[in-house]
Amino acid sequence: MEQTEVTKPETLDDLIKILHQIFSSDSVNVEEVQTIMEAYESNPQEWMKFARFDQYRYTRNLVDDGNGKFNLMILCWGEGHGSSIHDHTNSHCFMKILQGQLKETLFMWPDSKSHGSMKQKSQRVLQDNKCAYISDSIGLHRVENVSHTERACSLHLYSPPFQHCQTFDQRTGHKNPVKLTFWSKYGEKTLHETTASQENN
Ligand SMILES: [Fe+2]
Repeated sequence: MEQTEVTKPETLDDLIKILHQIFSSDSVNVEEVQTIMEAYESNPQEWMKFARFDQYRYTRNLVDDGNGKFNLMILCWGEGHGSSIHDHTNSHCFMKILQGQLKETLFMWPDSKSHGSMKQKSQRVLQDNKCAYISDSIGLHRVENVSHTERACSLHLYSPPFQHCQTFDQRTGHKNPVKLTFWSKYGEKTLHETTASQENN
């Protein structure tokens, strides 16, 4: 197997610089990105300014727009917060744990012929600094902070960036389009999106 030279990112800024270099080319080497993201040792002082929590649900906080090639964001999960089962709009999705633990449950795409509950493929708990990868060809997933005492933060890279995805009802396999919004961008709260999100709660 081809061996990739990996520079260890010393800081979050360093990681962002390396990601810009990697994504300036048109092909994505999944393993290389995963290795680089895993090699960054989470330092809360570097990312705390992006990590904004909501009382009711997990938040998406934009860190860097990757020059149009990717979106890098921090997701903040309060105690017991979780996502719906969702797809990734034909993009690559990398998810690294910055703090706490997240449970990832993988599902198969629902079969149009079979009605009823969706088939679970696997489940795992991701620990500190681990970087998971998923794409539509692997399947769908649900991500949850199952802890009732600890919050969790994760660093996500999506390439190409996307603003819509689909969520799935576990019992029926029915899907719904969802528009994705940011709770904050570059450390600043996005005001009108805050209002929209509050209306949903
Ligand atoms: Fe996801």
